[in-house]
Amino acid sequence: MNDTKANLDDIVSSSAESIVQYWDSFYRMAAMRTPSQFAALVASELKSPHIIIDVGCGNGRDTFFFGDIGHIVIGLDASGTAIDSNSSQISDDLKERIFFRQFTVGEDSFDAVTDFIAGAQFDHLPVVIYSRFFLHAITSVAEDEFAQQLSGISPTISGIFLEYRDIRDANMVKIYADHYRRFIDPDAFSKKLTSDSDYSLLYQVIGQGFAKYGREDPWIARQIFAARSNMKADQ
Ligand SMILES: C[S@@+](CC[C@H](N)C(=O)[O-])C[C@H]1O[C@@H](n2cnc3c(N)ncnc32)[C@H](O)[C@@H]1O
Repeated sequence: MNDTKANLDDIVSSSAESIVQYWDSFYRMAAMRTPSQFAALVASELKSPHIIIDVGCGNGRDTFFFGDIGHIVIGLDASGTAIDSNSSQISDDLKERIFFRQFTVGEDSFDAVTDFIAGAQFDHLPVVIYSRFFLHAITSVAEDEFAQQLSGISPTISGIFLEYRDIRDANMVKIYADHYRRFIDPDAFSKKLTSDSDYSLLYQVIGQGFAKYGREDPWIARQIFAARSNMKADQ
């Protein structure tokens, strides 16, 4: 990991463009793909097939997992390297269920994704947003745009599942010390998402032990939001 750090250090800064350059370099290296603990939690919440939009899907670790257990999944990520690599790994029997699209939050519109769903044979299924370790990996400007876009598509979304680094994580040890990241106040984010939209906060937990990775045990926030008008459509 130290060699990688040396190679990537010079492109790390806080601009949206350099964040994507960083992740393109990161995903050129092969990595093991096992689903996250958060994906297992979400899988246990969604008891029937759903359309899961995995925002900031990275190497598709959770996207493939959701597809494997019967959901329709659309993995979105700004890194073309990740999207090309993930797309090439979809087995033939899952090509009608797992989709990857290059998509940059802050630049692209979720309308393209909802249009894709509207024209598909699975468009009757409830749609949820899943986003793990993404919110803290984007700039605060992109976070605002993300919240605004989620509000705009609330009529088609029944749930939002988020996991991200809490403010308490700021001073903790990091294995990938060179990743761009912020630390987020869950109450502030929840207020941002719910104050001017149809969403309400259903569940929130903040703590350690949820995303342990080697010697790193980050402070994590998990939040589940539901769109009030679509609550009955879920489960
Ligand atoms: C920390 S990784 C999380 C990957 C995956 N969700 C996981 O849990 O392993 C953050 C991801 O966000 C992506 N990303 C960063 N900025 C983005 C943006 N503005 N729009 C979409 N994806 C972005 C990166 O390419 C990277 O794959």
